[in-house]
Amino acid sequence: MTKRTLLFSYFLIFLFSLSAQTISITTDHVQLVLQVNSQKRLCQTYLGERLSEQTDLSQLSMPQAGLSSSTIRGLEAYPVMGTEDYYEPAFEIRHADGNPTSVLKYQQHSQQDNLTSISLRDEVYPVEVTLYYKTFPQEDVIQQWAEIRHEEKGKVYLGRYASSMLYFEAPNYYLTEFASDWAKEMQMQSGELQFGKKVVDSRLGTRANLMAQPFFEIGLGGPVREEEGTVLMGTLGWTGNFRFTFEVDNQHVLRVVSGINHDASTYLLGKGDVFRTADFFFTLAKGTGEGSRRFQRWMMNHQLRKAKDDRMTLLNNWENTYFDFNEEKLVALLGEAKDLGVDLFLLDDGWFGNKYPRRDDRAGLGDWQVTKDKLPQGIPYLVRKAKENGVAFGIWIEPEMVNPKSELAEKHPDWLIQLPSRDTYYFRNQQVLDLCNPKVQDFVFGVVDGLMKENPEIRFMKWDCNSPITNIYSPYLGEKQGNLYVDYVRGLYRVLDRVQEKYPDLYMMMCSGGGGRSDVTGLRYFTEFWCSDNTDPIERLFIQWGYSQFMPAKAMCAHVTEWNRRASIKFRVDVAFQGKLGFDIGLKDLSTSDRQYCREAIKEYKRLKDVIWSPNLYRLVSPYEGQHCVVQRVDDSKSHSIVFAYDIHPRYGENLPCTRLMGLDPAAKYRVKEICLMPGGQSHLPCHDKVYTGDYLMKVGIKVTSPDDLASHIIELRQE
Ligand code: GLA
Repeated sequence: MTKRTLLFSYFLIFLFSLSAQTISITTDHVQLVLQVNSQKRLCQTYLGERLSEQTDLSQLSMPQAGLSSSTIRGLEAYPVMGTEDYYEPAFEIRHADGNPTSVLKYQQHSQQDNLTSISLRDEVYPVEVTLYYKTFPQEDVIQQWAEIRHEEKGKVYLGRYASSMLYFEAPNYYLTEFASDWAKEMQMQSGELQFGKKVVDSRLGTRANLMAQPFFEIGLGGPVREEEGTVLMGTLGWTGNFRFTFEVDNQHVLRVVSGINHDASTYLLGKGDVFRTADFFFTLAKGTGEGSRRFQRWMMNHQLRKAKDDRMTLLNNWENTYFDFNEEKLVALLGEAKDLGVDLFLLDDGWFGNKYPRRDDRAGLGDWQVTKDKLPQGIPYLVRKAKENGVAFGIWIEPEMVNPKSELAEKHPDWLIQLPSRDTYYFRNQQVLDLCNPKVQDFVFGVVDGLMKENPEIRFMKWDCNSPITNIYSPYLGEKQGNLYVDYVRGLYRVLDRVQEKYPDLYMMMCSGGGGRSDVTGLRYFTEFWCSDNTDPIERLFIQWGYSQFMPAKAMCAHVTEWNRRASIKFRVDVAFQGKLGFDIGLKDLSTSDRQYCREAIKEYKRLKDVIWSPNLYRLVSPYEGQHCVVQRVDDSKSHSIVFAYDIHPRYGENLPCTRLMGLDPAAKYRVKEICLMPGGQSHLPCHDKVYTGDYLMKVGIKVTSPDDLASHIIELRQE
């Protein structure tokens, strides 16, 4: 190429870039800009704080993805495997003729209300991908997903189908991830991302989040901090396998690819069928504090099922009785529920199965008929007794699962996910039903429907799911085995849609051996979720701290139990007070004053729940940084606030500084009162019953931590 032709081609590129399509996607504070380059490829040119002058968009430099190897920056909005991009792609397809690539070119886009859709097409193969961006302006959350379609005659396989691909340029990148295990959910871990890839994913199918949770935070230009620095917070809304890939490329650009995990999931897509990816949600915020407030507000305004409705405090019998109960014991517990003053009694595992009664976790799962010799008068009797005690009734189910020792497994072996030619591996002695199969979907829906038809007054169900998908083979899918993990989740959503439609008033807890299922799309169907089987209050401070990064308090079930009896009942209740309060404890084992404390605490909780559930959360002192934890909630009008303060194991002679509060009106005056005192107890906090300006409380602060082991203080602030 001569110098002249080179100059001329640069000139053409320049002209094109002037007339190029620019698509701007904005919330109140965040802006994503996409542009179409000279090769009709859609590229990201900006993602950051919203620009104040929209005319500045023309200044954004246009990446020339794919022009020549030296200019490849791979900033394509939906890069494809196998063509020019060297890095982790968002999309991979194998055409009917075996060609493993596509080149996606911009066709058109539309922007209406808060939804942008951009269609891309392969000009050689009849393949179309439409990218969607939905904005929630006030909450500053952006939702992304894609739809994939083809019109090819033969078999077309999707190898990868991410929801989102985002790029960042910052001096450094720090990832906070949420490692998990049974009883160890949401353990926050941070580290710098170096050159290469870091993958956070799950391939457990049903109990998908057992080992890793579908959330992440990235500090752009420094470690993630609570109220400072720019942080990207993202989550995948998918009740199944997810995958986040964080890749720092050779130019130190960070690429974040989010979507359903494609491992063992090469999807055979039929002609004309639409493959809709999962939803990815993200915000860019100043510190995780702001990001959490946005996510919690977004959950409350747009995502959580029955977000505006009340929630019920409850008494659960699980840790009280385990499988060992009968009518008499349950009726006694119903009396305890009444005595406590909770709204609901929840009957847990162990009420079903006749040929193979559910006496432990080895049998009965799948046979959803009440065990006659255990509960001879059936569920209707218990519902009636609950009513007589003035409490609502709830019941535990695990409808996606089956014990091989069950009538269901005997009758329908073809309904079970299991490998035809290998020994079956059992997790908690059970297997997963094949929800890809519409007949199984009917059966699972029938579990809820059957109970509700017999007992229309059931108000609540705890929907458990204790096994991951192992032995991955669906007898229903035939040659489409790669579709299993994806179609399973779709089957589950189909069932949950039916439940929601037929029983709109039913409250449901999402549970999976603790917090093994805890994604934001699951919470479109469930009113709340069980954060962990671990209810040791110290551990819960960490688990709740973790979940509160994204999840609203109203959805986070927190029960008072016997875990860690070293902690006083007050400490245990005060920790559970931060979430959706419940009890799973025998009242008869408590002292009179402990019982009294629980009763009073429930009353206080009901009085304060609107503030406790407010999305305006300020995490003031982190348990990760010492022996204390302080968290504050403020209502929208800034007239009412609650501070929760906990001392774990303070060091000898530790310095206890004032804690500066946040989110108040500086000009307003607040009366500060310690509440939830033990019967006959008095507050020793120096700030108790004093009046301060919001300005003082936020600049000077008050002493709310103490040198005492396992002490807790709940402090109410009321504007005067
Ligand atoms: C799971 C749940 C528990 C309880 C048991 C019952 O482990 O997390 O809360 O319901 O199942 O078997």
